[in-house]
Amino acid sequence: MRITTKENDIASILYSEKQIAAMVETLGEKITEDYQGTRPVMVCVLKGASLFFTDLCREIDLNIDMDFISVSSYGTSSKSSGVVKLNKDVDVDITGRDVIIVDDIIDSGLTLKHLKNLFSTRGPKSVKTIALLDKKVRHDPDLTPDYVGFQCPDYFVVGYGLDYANNYRNLPYIGILRDEVFR
Ligand code: IMP
Ligand code: MG
Repeated sequence: MRITTKENDIASILYSEKQIAAMVETLGEKITEDYQGTRPVMVCVLKGASLFFTDLCREIDLNIDMDFISVSSYGTSSKSSGVVKLNKDVDVDITGRDVIIVDDIIDSGLTLKHLKNLFSTRGPKSVKTIALLDKKVRHDPDLTPDYVGFQCPDYFVVGYGLDYANNYRNLPYIGILRDEVFR
C-alpha cells in the first residue's frame, strides 16, 4: 500500500502529529505526578495502542515496567461484545502493583471494562485506564477511562496505531476515514 493511496483515503485530519505530541507530553507529566514514589506497570493493549504507548512511556519520568497484552473481541468485527479473548497475557506478576492499562479508543467501553475486571482479580494495588481517544457519546459515563488523550467525534478514525482492516496504523496523525473506503 502506498502512502499516497492512504492519504487519499482520509477525509480530514482530526488530530495532527503536533497536537498528538503536545497531548502526550502533558499526559506523561500528569502520570509522572500521580504515580510519584511508585513503579507502575504500564500495559499496552496491542496492536492499536502501540504507537501511543511507546510515545507516552517516553514522557513518563519514573521507573516503570512495560508490558503487552493482545486481545480479540468475540462477536462481529464492527460491534464489541465486551467479552475478550486474551491472546497474549502480561509477563509481569501484578500482585500488589499499580497497573495502568493503555488502550487506543473507547467505543462501547466494554473491552476496557472487561480488561480492568480481569486485572482486578489478580490482587493488584490499583488498576487505572488510559485511552488515546474517547467516543464519549457511545458509552455509559461510568465506563469513562481514568485518563483520556482526546475526545473523539462519532466517526471511524484511523492512524497513530488505529486501523481499518489493519491498514493506516502507521499514519503519524489521526484522521477520519472516507466513507467510500468502507464500501
Ligand atoms: P469497545 O470500546 O469495546 O467497543 O471497543 C473498542 C475497540 O474497537 C478499539 O480498541 C478498536 O479496536 C475498535 N474501534 C472502535 N472505534 C474505532 C475507530 O473509530 N477506529 C478504529 N478502531 C475502532
Ligand atoms: Mg483495540
